[in-house]
Amino acid sequence: MVIGKPLLSAEEIQHKVKELADRITMDYKNKNLLAVGILKGAFMFFSDLVRHIRVPMSIDFIIASSYVKTDTTGEVKVYYDLRADVRDRDVLLVEDIVDTGITLNFIRERVLAKGPASLKVCALLDKKDRRVVDIPIDYRGFIIPNEYVVGYGLDYDDQYRNLPYISIFKKSV
Ligand code: IMP
Ligand code: MG
Repeated sequence: MVIGKPLLSAEEIQHKVKELADRITMDYKNKNLLAVGILKGAFMFFSDLVRHIRVPMSIDFIIASSYVKTDTTGEVKVYYDLRADVRDRDVLLVEDIVDTGITLNFIRERVLAKGPASLKVCALLDKKDRRVVDIPIDYRGFIIPNEYVVGYGLDYDDQYRNLPYISIFKKSV
C-alpha cells in the first residue's frame, strides 16, 4: 500500500475551508442553521468548517456508510440518525466527498422527508466522473480526478483518516 505525495496540501485545504465557511456565513444570516456532519468521513472537514462559520447555528450528525474497503456497495446503511427536529431549520449537509452520489442522495431524501425549511449540501471533494445519481452541491471545495483518496477524514479500511492532507491511495505497485 502506497500513499503518494499530497494531492491537496493541508494549507490548500484550510484555505478552501475558510472560503466555503465565509460563503455559508453570508448565505445563512437571518436563517436558522443546522449543520449536519456525515460521519465518519466528514469529521475533520466538519469541525474545521464550523469553527469558521460566523452565524448562530447548531450541529448534529448522521453516521452512514456504503463502502467496504474501496468499493461502494450501492446500499447505504444508517448507523446513527439525526436527533434534531429539522422543521423550521435550514439544514446544511456536510460531506467529505461525493463519488457516485448514492450516499448523499439517500441521506438528502431522508432529511427532506422530515420537512426542513431548506436543505443545502456542502462537500469538500467532488469526484465528478463517477457520478451515478445527479445531486446538487451548493458548496463545493475541489473537483478531483477519478482516484481513491485518503486523509483529512477519508479512509481506506478505517485507516489514514488522521492525515492533515489528502493523498491518492494505491493498493500496491
Ligand atoms: P458515494 O455514495 O459513491 O457518493 O460515496 C460517498 C462516500 O464514499 C463518501 O462519503 C466517502 O465516505 C466514501 N468515498 C468515496 N470515494 C472515496 C475515496 O476516494 N476515498 C475515501 N472514501 C471515499
Ligand atoms: Mg462519507
